[in-house]
Amino acid sequence: MKKITLALSALALSLSAATASASAGCDAGEVVAKLSHVTGGTTHPKVVAANNLADRVNKELDGKMCVEVFPNSTLFGDSKELEALLLGDVQILAPSLSKFGSYTRKLGVFDLPFIFKDMDAAIRFTNSKTGKDLLHSMDDVGFTGLGYWMSGMKYFSANKPLLVPSDANGLKFRVQTSDVAKAMISAMGASPQPLPFAEVYGALQTGVVDGQENTWSNIYTKKFFEVQDSTTETSHQLLAYFFMTSTDWLEGLDADVREKFLAIADDVTQEANQSVKAAEAANRDNVVKSGGKINVLTAAQRAEWVNAMKPVWSQFESDIGADIIKAAAGS
Ligand code: SIN
Repeated sequence: MKKITLALSALALSLSAATASASAGCDAGEVVAKLSHVTGGTTHPKVVAANNLADRVNKELDGKMCVEVFPNSTLFGDSKELEALLLGDVQILAPSLSKFGSYTRKLGVFDLPFIFKDMDAAIRFTNSKTGKDLLHSMDDVGFTGLGYWMSGMKYFSANKPLLVPSDANGLKFRVQTSDVAKAMISAMGASPQPLPFAEVYGALQTGVVDGQENTWSNIYTKKFFEVQDSTTETSHQLLAYFFMTSTDWLEGLDADVREKFLAIADDVTQEANQSVKAAEAANRDNVVKSGGKINVLTAAQRAEWVNAMKPVWSQFESDIGADIIKAAAGS
């Protein structure tokens, strides 16, 4: 009995320390919200949105709540962050939508190759009823979706120029932990290799993998172009983030603080999605200025990529839901 009482007091102490005591940069008495993410640099859309959220909360909820940002996998890498959120070790995340396969299959719709013509189509889908409903696809797990942060369309890079899918035959590509992404790479006659984001540069440099797929913002800020022959402008997939918190944490906030926090979260999301295209264009220029090579596809070459990947849609139709796929494709 004594042991149980001691353990409970220790738990109560650590819970109150996590929520209400001072930590670096935050004042005593403020609810501390740690925001962990894996991206870096200063021009990346997720870096900008995360810092904007912290600036707004720290100013507008001064004395009540404080957001601390941990970029570049410095607090948690992408293999641990979702678990850490459920354990209460971090309160806010924005993981790629490709990283939720073990919690819901429905978000796989965002990974289907060529489902969105461009980011505007993806934004239209996230603003639709189906897109908004997907924010609640993991309510039962204890994840509350606050919004979608767009990052950009994705492009393939490799240690040789890729102009048509057969150029990728036999190559190994790093992918996120997404079954859809794995199937897409297999459809190109290549091998998928899931790896945490923090390991991609090293894996490309040492030849553990031959290529990867990402946005201009990730290719530039993580310097992938330095260790690849070139990047091909395929725009084959979307990269976007599930801006989220734990339901328990959110429900534990005082009502007035929660309401203000949700209003700020919404504003930050709108702003992030308005500036994302400009950030991607600037980071494409940064890649070129830094010596990265870009392959632009002809219409015929692009059609070959679309055809090679088309079978992936039917492979995942029953997991994702035909209605969800139809809504996304029609956006
Ligand atoms: C991210 O942008 O958050 C990571 C993307 C990746 O793992 O490729």
